[in-house]
Amino acid sequence: MTQDQLKQAVAQAAVDHIRPHLDAKSIIGVGTGSTANFFIEALARHKMEFDGAVASSEATAQRLKVHGIPVYDLNGVDALEFYVDGADESDERLHLIKGGGAALTREKIVAAVARTFVCIADASKLVPVLGRFPLPVEVLPMARSHVARQLVKLGGDPVYREGVVTDNGNVILDVHNLEIVDPVDLEARINAIVGVVTNGLFAARPADLLLLGTADGVRTLTR
Ligand code: 5RP
Repeated sequence: MTQDQLKQAVAQAAVDHIRPHLDAKSIIGVGTGSTANFFIEALARHKMEFDGAVASSEATAQRLKVHGIPVYDLNGVDALEFYVDGADESDERLHLIKGGGAALTREKIVAAVARTFVCIADASKLVPVLGRFPLPVEVLPMARSHVARQLVKLGGDPVYREGVVTDNGNVILDVHNLEIVDPVDLEARINAIVGVVTNGLFAARPADLLLLGTADGVRTLTR
């Protein structure tokens, strides 16, 4: 199976997982990236079974609208039963690295509101220790050099993601060469640096369910 077929399989598995819980009032949180895009395609086939979605990026909002799914502002939504999104890495405890698509801050906000965070990924994303994928950090533009110096003190090698401006008007530093043995602690320490908006560790609020696409089918991991 190709990586895209694995992503398609987990996207369909996520739709199968949430469908029994949907009704005409349901609003679904939707992530960003190629796996989330497959989820939108699969979800759109059932758009009459729920009310609409909250998007974690402008790109996702656009794609949802193209598929005829109404998009709501998160501020007007009281509760989200599900947030479905991909990841760049996951460990067995469902701590994640996200932000390869630079949407980490909005993703983290929508995930915080959702009761259940369903992560969908192909098997290559499951790792014993997080950190092989460079950790994205969203930073206010004027704080870029200051934050980079602090990240070096934490043992990382930050690299400015040239040419990328987030949906929030900020920049991204990708931190290489971290071996993240305590993701909850590192998430808090990076977020405490002045000028950081947030970082791509989803450890304080990990996924609740990981649907992992493997050659032998979709594997389900829970915390
Ligand atoms: C975007 C993300 C994505 O979920 C992550 O980059 C995975 O993307 P893909 O599904 O394309 O592999 O965090 O900010």
